[in-house]
Amino acid sequence: MTARPASAPFLQGGALDLEAVRRDFPVLKLQVNGKPLVFLDNAASSQMPQPVIDRWVRYQTQEHANIHRAVHYLSEKATAEYELARRKVQAFINAREEREVIFTSGTTESINLVAHGYGRKFIGAGDEIILTTLEHHSNIVPWQMVAEEKGAKLRVVPIDDRGELRVDEYRKLFSDRTRIVGVTHVSNALGTINPVKEMIAFAHERGVPVLVDGAQAAPHLKVDVQDLDADFYAFSGHKLCGPTGIGVLYGKAALLEKMQPFKGGGDMILSVTFEKTTYNVIPQKFEAGTPPIAAAITLGAAIDYLTALGMDRIAAAEHDLLDYATSEVNRMPGVRIIGTAEKKAAVLSFAIQGVHPHDVGTLLNEEGVAIRTGHHCAQPVMQRFKVPATSRASFAFYNTPAEVDALVAAIRKVQKIFG
Ligand SMILES: Cc1ncc(COP(=O)(O)O)c(C=O)c1O
Repeated sequence: MTARPASAPFLQGGALDLEAVRRDFPVLKLQVNGKPLVFLDNAASSQMPQPVIDRWVRYQTQEHANIHRAVHYLSEKATAEYELARRKVQAFINAREEREVIFTSGTTESINLVAHGYGRKFIGAGDEIILTTLEHHSNIVPWQMVAEEKGAKLRVVPIDDRGELRVDEYRKLFSDRTRIVGVTHVSNALGTINPVKEMIAFAHERGVPVLVDGAQAAPHLKVDVQDLDADFYAFSGHKLCGPTGIGVLYGKAALLEKMQPFKGGGDMILSVTFEKTTYNVIPQKFEAGTPPIAAAITLGAAIDYLTALGMDRIAAAEHDLLDYATSEVNRMPGVRIIGTAEKKAAVLSFAIQGVHPHDVGTLLNEEGVAIRTGHHCAQPVMQRFKVPATSRASFAFYNTPAEVDALVAAIRKVQKIFG
């Protein structure tokens, strides 16, 4: 049984019926500080709808056992559901083969898997790794670790004042020592959608593979890894209306087969003696130990839910909401939007003149409005804009124009207090 939205989610004309969608999310009925919760911290983690929660409960109450290891009913059931979840991910991102989908604990682990499994094997002294200023720390630090160990260098693509990648500079960074490119599909700090398809094509002309950090793209855009021709694509379940503790690494089979396993243990082997271990085939080679079975199956339900709504509809609804929020905030004196790229997804970072972002976050919380303040694990972006931190409202398809109004009203209140 797939997780369908609980109620008819479409209006005439095919747009999302927001009221019906919102009824699926129990947490959206919360009151915070006596006000209705306005949840605008979706880039950090999005909320789970009831059919997805139900899937978690059904697994725990009727299907739980360890997988791949026994012939009894529950183990076979859990194994079948876990592998079904893999096929759902495969369809969701249009991977060619299900063995190209590896379950990890999240984007961070997915990127570490590539850095350690591919990078440490194929990057050597004097080699170069291209990253961008827009990367989340999880697509910087693992590469720094590899570079330090191997004596390789990081080359970083700059951004312009709008927060767009300087693609002209990207092209200039390539040399015959370039071994891999790591680029975020959508910036978590600014919302910029990067031209990853063109960047991948350019890298491939030079024989260089590309890892795409899709943590902020998979929840908001229709992702097609074959169309992008991405070599690796990473994302997290908890930003996709799924649970924490589960993520995905997509990798082209030919590359995954050449890579070193990152973790050793049960399930990732074919045979073990004290003299020699033979590794399992992909994807098991990279899934050592008991995997997050419940979380993977529940992620499958989240994918069913989003697919039933339609990623195109989700993207259109969020685009309209971001446009509305941008025009409202732009009209506010003393508020500056940071990140004004032409193509953006779901993120509105801003600074209120004379008010520290931490105070903004605290005062907005008093109004029931949940945003994130800080460096968003993207300190190089903050350094580029010469700010220590920003306030960030990030949207999901279940947010409403009325919630944008609540955000704007709360910002006005902050300005009054500090005015
Ligand atoms: C662009 C980007 N990459 C990577 C991550 C790390 O994701 P996780 O903490 O789920 O591993 C995040 C999380 O905020 C992100 O926004």
